[in-house]
Amino acid sequence: MNPTTTRHDPEAGRESLRLTSVSKSYGTGAGAVTALDRVTLDLPAGSFMAVMGPSGSGKSTLLRCAAGLDTPDSGEVVVDGEPMTGRSEAALTKFRRKRIGFVFQQYNLLPTLTVYQNTVLPLRLSRSRVDRERALRILAEVGLGDRVDHLPDQLSGGQRQRVAIARALVTGPRLVFADEPTGALDLHSARDVLRLLREAAALHGQTVVMVTHDPVAASYADFVQFLADGRLVGRMSSPTVDAVAERLAHLGDTVAQAHRVGA
Ligand SMILES: Nc1ncnc2c1ncn2[C@@H]1O[C@H](COP(=O)(O)OP(=O)(O)O)[C@@H](O)[C@H]1O
Ligand SMILES: [Mg+2]
Repeated sequence: MNPTTTRHDPEAGRESLRLTSVSKSYGTGAGAVTALDRVTLDLPAGSFMAVMGPSGSGKSTLLRCAAGLDTPDSGEVVVDGEPMTGRSEAALTKFRRKRIGFVFQQYNLLPTLTVYQNTVLPLRLSRSRVDRERALRILAEVGLGDRVDHLPDQLSGGQRQRVAIARALVTGPRLVFADEPTGALDLHSARDVLRLLREAAALHGQTVVMVTHDPVAASYADFVQFLADGRLVGRMSSPTVDAVAERLAHLGDTVAQAHRVGA
């Protein structure tokens, strides 16, 4: 099923994220590391993209630059129609709070706040009105309707990550960025989290960008973008677990080839 054609969404097909020749290095001189090397990609609204590549290939840097959490050295990032480059930190923070949701591997919940309080925190931080009914509905959708007054340490890892997803979705963001969201979860919990991310894209038209090194997780996405040595080295539509695993195993060859042709 292709959600961009079956969904009656006026936003469908609209560009949601564009990176144009984005480069980013860390350090200087002989110790400099090129984390991203002229990365160009664009993503229509409502799509679910997985980013894969070896450890150190630049996946998290790509996510951080795309989300405006980090500033590229060169190139342009446009999120939901707005340029992220050349804006003040304050403007970026405001933009992120309204339009972007984040999910991290380690949940990043506040231990002294309840499930409900953690969920509505982004609304409080941006001084938006807290719609209690809506927040409770989202918690019910992620399967935590009966856990709203629990504290994070009373929950399993999978439940904590579902709180993190509710928190990411509570502002109704246009984009959701997730960095290894299933990295700390068992298979069953991982599947719940992946279904929720897929639904965010397919049912709610949100654009989802997920970094993962798990071919099973990647198979939930509409397509996979492969990264090696900071460069995009391939893209796979309608990924299957086997095809993704196969491609990952041969990523080294692709890199060698890219270096030979100087791409
Ligand atoms: N804050 C940083 N300071 C120095 N080097 C960094 C920093 N963040 C990332 N790097 C380096 O940039 C490269 C890409 O890192 P990263 O984007 O975290 O890769 P991945 O998420 O694919 O493992 C790595 O070589 C890493 O060591
Ligand atoms: Mg990473």
